[in-house]
Amino acid sequence: MRKALEGVRVLDMTHVQSGPSATQILAWLGADVVKLEATTGDITRKQLRDLPDVDSLYFTMLNSNKRSITLNMKSDKGKQLFVDLVKKFDILAENFGPGAVDRMGFPWEKLQEINPKLIYASIKGFGDGPYKFYKAYEVVAQAMGGSMSTTGFPDGPPLATGAQIGDSGTGMHAVAGILAALYQREHTGQGQRVTVAMQHAVLNLCRVKLRDQQRLAHGPLNEYPNKEFGDEVPRSANASGGGQPGWAIKCAPGGPNDYIYVIVQPVGWAPITQLIGRPELANDPDWATPEVRLGKLDKMFQLIEDWSADHDKWEVLAKLNEHNIPCGPILSTKEIIEDESLADNEIVVKVDHPERGEFTTVGMPIKLSDSPAEVRRSPLLGEHNQEIYGNELGLSESDMAELKASGVI
Ligand code: COA
Repeated sequence: MRKALEGVRVLDMTHVQSGPSATQILAWLGADVVKLEATTGDITRKQLRDLPDVDSLYFTMLNSNKRSITLNMKSDKGKQLFVDLVKKFDILAENFGPGAVDRMGFPWEKLQEINPKLIYASIKGFGDGPYKFYKAYEVVAQAMGGSMSTTGFPDGPPLATGAQIGDSGTGMHAVAGILAALYQREHTGQGQRVTVAMQHAVLNLCRVKLRDQQRLAHGPLNEYPNKEFGDEVPRSANASGGGQPGWAIKCAPGGPNDYIYVIVQPVGWAPITQLIGRPELANDPDWATPEVRLGKLDKMFQLIEDWSADHDKWEVLAKLNEHNIPCGPILSTKEIIEDESLADNEIVVKVDHPERGEFTTVGMPIKLSDSPAEVRRSPLLGEHNQEIYGNELGLSESDMAELKASGVI
């Protein structure tokens, strides 16, 4: 079956997480993604290693379905080969520190000259302005994009979230930009520059907190658990953030992830009162409407917890869902990796690797009926030098041996 992006070629200079998460999606959509690495390789090949001398899970879980070539972009010969490569690709993606590609000698104007159809996608920490030249990592973006100030308990410090919204979140925004640029190129015949700043992507994901910042000007945020409000959106612990109240409530036997997140829609109140053994509260004027419950959400969730604390989270999930009540047990990473339905959905998948053996990774979250993704292993460093430099660019074996000996590839 033909894949959605079959025939599209990506020269992937990305490293670490944000960029690789984007190009991995393109690879799963069927693009030919060739990862161009320094001769020392993407730093994450060696970071957080669980097995000696074997590409880390950090690397293998973000670079599947790609090919790998090495190229020293600081050598003259490397720059020449790069020019030959750029002519053959549709997309160039990178997430180096600000200015790195310019310093290699390839500002956007030059890349456009080499290949006017090229789509050049860059991820940086920040947009134009005072932070433009600052480097950034995941939690820096969470800090400056509105996530950390709004995550945590009101009386505790700002918290980072485990979801990699700064890195992979930005990568997904980059995918949207790249695909739109590809589509526009169908009409214009021209490539274009796609830039995404991690701070901007996190802010986009924190959009509702800016909603609340403006609502705050008109009075307290009643659906927040906080008792007092200043002039900025406070950390609101596990409040749902939406128009319907929610909270993480305890379940048996009381372990660190024995919780279930429950949302009480207006229609859910009556069945909940039945379930928790307090049917009289369904029509009690002190409890019957969302408006009267709003002032005592902590008490409402305590009532539900008094019931849930005697049942395990799976039982609570089943019982609440019998009444169509939105809820979700807090799943640990162990539970997720062992979950059969996630494996059946091919979102948790097993992949074989020549050096590490079989390992588990997260598969393709976007399902296309006519372009199913098949997750294949990540490449070894420079595994495809022969295919690209030899077969495609026509370099001889002796040329390649010389390039290798002189540290160009
Ligand atoms: N050949 C030769 N040199 C190469 C190369 C190659 N193939 N690929 C990269 N390099 C060099 C670059 O030229 C650059 O050198 P220079 O600074 O002397 O010009 C250097 O390697 C890369 O620098 P940088 O990207 O700044 O790496 P770093 O490890 O110091 O910083 C980040 C890492 C992530 C902080 C930085 O890349 C960054 O801010 N990226 C943008 C935001 C981002 O994506 N962050 C999230 C990462 S998950």
